Amino acid sequence: MKERPIAFLDSGVGGLPYLSEAQKQIPDENFVYVADNENFPYGGKNFEQLKKVVISVIERIVDQFNPKTVVIACNTASVITLKSLRKRFGIPFVGVVPAVKPAAQYSQNGRIGLLATESTVKSIYTDDLIRDFARDCSVFRFAGVQIVDFVENRYYGADEDEIYKILSPAVEYFTRKQIDSLILGCTHFLFVREPLQKLMGKEIKVIDSVDGVVKQLGKILQDTSPAGGNNKSKYSRFYITGTSYSREKYEMFINAFDLEWGGSI
Ligand code: DGL
Repeated sequence: MKERPIAFLDSGVGGLPYLSEAQKQIPDENFVYVADNENFPYGGKNFEQLKKVVISVIERIVDQFNPKTVVIACNTASVITLKSLRKRFGIPFVGVVPAVKPAAQYSQNGRIGLLATESTVKSIYTDDLIRDFARDCSVFRFAGVQIVDFVENRYYGADEDEIYKILSPAVEYFTRKQIDSLILGCTHFLFVREPLQKLMGKEIKVIDSVDGVVKQLGKILQDTSPAGGNNKSKYSRFYITGTSYSREKYEMFINAFDLEWGGSI
């Protein structure tokens, strides 16, 4: 008997590095990844509108895949909708939220950068995270809207100059602020981690939420599923919402992350 999968959701390809680490650390599970291309981008949407969008795509995911757990592999969707999702659906959710606590623990000079979407930067959830875990630090926030679009639409085939040009407003801002640690508060930004690190300088610590998220997922699975499942036909499939997308573009990501193409939902 096949086991119920773990579902991952993001507005696009941003959550793939999170899925990849989960596959490595929890290899016996089935995974479905849903890129909500129909509603891309999530950042910048009105909060109420975003809640409706995410609830509706989760309803589709639950109907179609009956997942045992859902990872909201998107900071924007997590900070705005997690509470509503947990209230509404009877399955566990793991959120991806900015790694404010690890950054505050690491920072020597108490000056931290947060690179995220406009919605994450402005959310009350982010204010609360900073109040709870980085009270003594100065957290400088920058909305990297163009970086999200770049990763989703032009990542493969882009040359170094284009990448540097896209990153330079954020790099200039954070350099001026003399931060010593930088939080990648949007899952899409993991794709530009290397050039960002190069531009910021190796003394700046770049921090994401991957470890915490995969650990939390593992813990939930341990608590909810009995060990030793009979999972004979393992799969990791990539699905996309809507019909107006370039399959060719997503094919690059699917190949790079060794996924199967699942089609539209
Ligand atoms: N990847 C998403 C995040 O982590 C957001 C990208 C978007 O704006 O859709 O916030």
